[in-house]
Parts: sequence; structure tokens; C-alpha cells
Amino acid sequence: MRPALSAKVQALQPSLIRELANEATGSAKFNDLIQLWYGEPDLPTPEVVRRACQQALDHGETFYTPNAGILPLREALAAYMNDLYGTSFGVERILVTGSGTLALTIASQALLAPGDVLVTHAPHWPNLSAIQQLRGARVVRVPLELHDGRWQLDLQRFFDACGPDTRAMLINSPANPTGWMLDDDGQLEILDFCRRRGIWLIADEVYNRIIYDRTHAPTFADKIGPDDPVLIVNSFSKTWAMTGWRLGWLTIPAGLLGRFEMLTEYTNSCTPAATQLAGVCAIREGEPYLRASLARWDQSRRLLRDAFAQLPRAHCPPAEAAFYAWFACEGVADSYALASDILHEARVGLAPGGAFAPEGEGWLRLCHAVAPETMARALERLSPVLK
Ligand SMILES: Cc1ncc(COP(=O)(O)O)c(C=O)c1O
Repeated sequence: MRPALSAKVQALQPSLIRELANEATGSAKFNDLIQLWYGEPDLPTPEVVRRACQQALDHGETFYTPNAGILPLREALAAYMNDLYGTSFGVERILVTGSGTLALTIASQALLAPGDVLVTHAPHWPNLSAIQQLRGARVVRVPLELHDGRWQLDLQRFFDACGPDTRAMLINSPANPTGWMLDDDGQLEILDFCRRRGIWLIADEVYNRIIYDRTHAPTFADKIGPDDPVLIVNSFSKTWAMTGWRLGWLTIPAGLLGRFEMLTEYTNSCTPAATQLAGVCAIREGEPYLRASLARWDQSRRLLRDAFAQLPRAHCPPAEAAFYAWFACEGVADSYALASDILHEARVGLAPGGAFAPEGEGWLRLCHAVAPETMARALERLSPVLK
């Protein structure tokens, strides 16, 4: 007899985005499908970055690397953040991780024990909850609210949700899927609360550079001191079109590097050298790519805005950052059914909102990190269905 898997694993729910995508797999009917359901840029990683990886492999960079990441990448990351944010992080505050997802996993392992509570906002990217649930921690969700057509987090409500068992809070700003952003004053209030109450903050800033009217979104990086209870999660995935590489980093408080090195040793030991050297190249040479991408995605965003203005049933609050349109369609309660109809009728792949915690039900997510021509074609197909 085969024993059961652990209760925590049995409680996992499948990703509704993947489930919908499976409906389209292997059918010729979907040969011309426009996929806007995943959160990733449509172009491959810039060539210069791919070449850096090829060169590293040709030079035999195939061995284990240090737990915290190779020094050239940690130095490049510290310099990158310091230039961008006007900060003064040293390499001892930087831990390279094999993806933003792994940075979140390590953060959860570092902070939470079974039974602990983590407070966060919703709707949110499904992994943000699932990672904590796999730890046996409980996630308390505080809904974002729409006021005057903009997403907002009621900070008092957020603080009131923090009880005696709350060990950590998680803020994802700019947020997936809504594009909501916490401003500098809000960040200072959160930081002050965490300091006073002795609560950890996990700041997921993987969309920090995906913003259209300035170099970066508000960040906790320029507000924290070395002793503050804050872990900042970051990733190469979105900024430099490196979703398939699995490369991220954590910014940690002073004096904790040894502990995080151990956590890395017992999680995935290290990140491949060739990937990390590609990361060094992305940081040093990736800005022109990022600027050009943002210009393309902004054009797609404008096309979307104009098209949605003509669709009275669709309600799409403007996103301040990231590369998603998050919209509701009047009279639709079951977002999976609507996404499935859109898939079959319009051959456009969208993410059903129910994937993003119960607060997302009734909504759909569309990733606009695509060429304007692709967006125009998708909108032509979507408009008749959403009219
Ligand atoms: C909010 C958020 N955090 C973290 C990640 C993880 O990114 P990755 O694991 O590709 O670095 C994602 C990816 O979609 C995300 O949306």
C-alpha cells in the first residue's frame, strides 16, 4: 500500500491558469492562439545576455558556486541598487537566489513556523499564499479596495488584521495582478508599524522597474536601516525577460548572511554560475533593452485603454505599474467560464481571476508585455466577446 502524501501537499490547489492553458494544448484549433495569460515578456532574453551565458559555459563554468551567489553578481547587484535608489548596501546584504519564487520560499522558511500568521493583501499572485501554506503558516488576506476607480489598501484595516500570532506581513508593490502601488508615505507607515510591533516585512518588488513614468516604483530599499526587520525579494525575470532562467535576489538585514547561506545550502545549494554571469551582464548592459521594452508595453497599454473605453461592460481600473490589465466584465461571476469562452471563441488566452485568491473571482488578467501589433490583434478578437 502506498502511504499518502503529506496533508499540506494534498491540500494544494492546481493553478487555474495552467488548467485553462491545458484546454488549448495539442488542438490545431488553437494554432493562432494569442497567449496573454502568463506574466512574462513576449521577447526572448536580450542577445548580449544569452551570449554571456554561452561564454561562461564555454569557459567551463559548470561547478557548484557559493551559497550566497558569486561575488561579481553580488557586487553588481549592490552597485545596481545603490545607483538606482541612492542607497549604500554592501554585498553582505545581498543573497542571490535561484528565482524570485525561491527568494520568497527562503524568506518564508526564515521567518515562519507552522501556525504563524502572515498578513497580506488580495487579490494576489497565487504562489504568495501557497508558499506560506506549505510552511504550515496561515495567510490572512486584506482586500484591496476600489476608490474613485483606483486600487487602494486601507492601512488601518491592514494593521488591524495583525494579531498576536502575526509574524510577518507581505507587501507586493507594484502588485500582480492589479498594478496597485504603495506610495512612499504608505511604505514609511508600514515600516514604522513593523518596527514597533516586531513584525517582519517581506517586500516583493519584482515589478519595481516595470513602471512607465519614472525609473523605478517606490521601494523599501531606500527607507530601511541595516537592523530593520525587512526582506526585499527581487528577480531578473520581468526586468530583463529572464523568466526561464530562474534568477533572483534577496536583500537581507545586516548580520544574517550566514543563516541565509545555510538556508540556501539546504534548499538548492547554489545558483548555476553561467546563469549568474548572465545576470551580471543583464545588470550592466540591460538598460537599453528595458527602456525599449517599456516603450513597447506602454504602447500596448494605451491600445488597451482606448479599446476598453469602448466596451461599456468591461471595467478596467488603470494600473499604475507592472504589465497587466485587470478587468471585470459586468454580469460575469465565474471568471474561469468567461476565460474559457474567450479562449474558445476568440482564441485569446487570459488568466481567470479566481486564480488570484477568492478576492480575484469575477475578474480577468491580461498581460500586455507584448508588441503593440499583437495587442491590436488580440483586442480585435476580444472586443466582440466583451461588448
Ligand atoms: C508578484 C510576483 N512575485 C514573484 C514572482 C516570481 O518571479 P520569478 O520566480 O520568475 O523570479 C512573480 C512571477 O510572476 C510575481 O508575479
